[in-house]
Amino acid sequence: MLDKAKALLQPSRRSAVPPFMVMDVMAAAARLEAQGRQIVHMEVGQPAAAALSSAIAAAQAALSSGPLGYTEALGIPSLRHRIARSYREWHGLEIDPQRIVVTTGSSGGFILAFLAAFEAGDRVAVALPGYPPYRHILSALGCEPVGIECAAEARWSLAGETLLREHGARPLKGVVVASPANPTGTMMSEKALADLIRCAEDAGIVVISDEIYHGLDYAYPATTAARVSSDVIIVNSFSKYFCMTGWRIGWLVVPQALVRSVERLQQNLAISVPTLSQIAAEAAFDGRAELEDIKHGYQDNRRILIEGLPEAGLNSFLPADGAFYLYADVSRFSSDSFAFASRMLEEAGVAATPGVDFDPIHGKNFIRLCYAGSRRDMTEAVTRIGSWLRG
Ligand SMILES: Cc1ncc(COP(=O)(O)O)c(C=O)c1O
Repeated sequence: MLDKAKALLQPSRRSAVPPFMVMDVMAAAARLEAQGRQIVHMEVGQPAAAALSSAIAAAQAALSSGPLGYTEALGIPSLRHRIARSYREWHGLEIDPQRIVVTTGSSGGFILAFLAAFEAGDRVAVALPGYPPYRHILSALGCEPVGIECAAEARWSLAGETLLREHGARPLKGVVVASPANPTGTMMSEKALADLIRCAEDAGIVVISDEIYHGLDYAYPATTAARVSSDVIIVNSFSKYFCMTGWRIGWLVVPQALVRSVERLQQNLAISVPTLSQIAAEAAFDGRAELEDIKHGYQDNRRILIEGLPEAGLNSFLPADGAFYLYADVSRFSSDSFAFASRMLEEAGVAATPGVDFDPIHGKNFIRLCYAGSRRDMTEAVTRIGSWLRG
């Protein structure tokens, strides 16, 4: 009986995706905290701030005003219009609200986008280092993620000619780009992004642009791929700039030709996105000034790290154009970033994510530090890392 159940309950091969190591670091940090240690958290990529008061007030009003039913699969129309309007306000672009799809975080957006654009077996390029779930979601859906190593000298971004070289070796069906990027915090200039998109589209490669860190740009304003082409699938989210990670809400800008497919997928996979989160998200657009204050806090944190880390001993990183990450080279100290991050947590009480999460090959030489925490945490981290590295 037991053997029969065991045979039945074999996990599928497609479910064998690697874990997200940052979660293991979080668990280890929590164990130390349970023993009374004070840990500076720089491992998880999420804002320390809560959702805006406008968003919370709208959610509270909705909770007390009646039942919260399903919404249309593509999202509440007024939210879709509000998102479309934000492209006019932020980028001077007219986007048809019919092309906006509300999703359960950008994570839900990726599933819809990949299913709508790719067949099982399709090869899809992703930059390494890069956000690990791109690769893992693709492989769970039966696609083949193709990691392309990028170099620090190229600000860790994928160039059109590199993409075409890979395409020439074995055809690609898609490519995922992100600017600002996780884990490096680097950005692509408008020209670099436009070149990549044109190379890809001329070769018949579908571009998916992850714009989740838009709004969090310090070097220069991030360019939306919608400015370059209306055939790109854009993925975005209320998680980062809007500080709404736990509300699980994001959006897609979908090329007209895919809208109905995405709608049918959403109807079947989710019915609709949580109504409360949609109502709160629409109200979050009313708090731009509060959001800009939070962004200034990140800017300050970034300065503290850029000035303080070299003196502390970590002197090799790019000055992070956007998002809230620094990707620091630790190869002077270790060629095993997982062991380095574990020791830094244990001995210095600073939690960071090992680069191997983002790049299985060269990530062993890097750690990612998230600076979305408090200013006090940043100064404390610099002090602790400094005294730890000095021994
Ligand atoms: C680059 C990038 N894309 C997507 C996500 C997923 O975010 P969410 O599903 O909360 O929108 C994250 C989360 O950290 C990320 O860093």
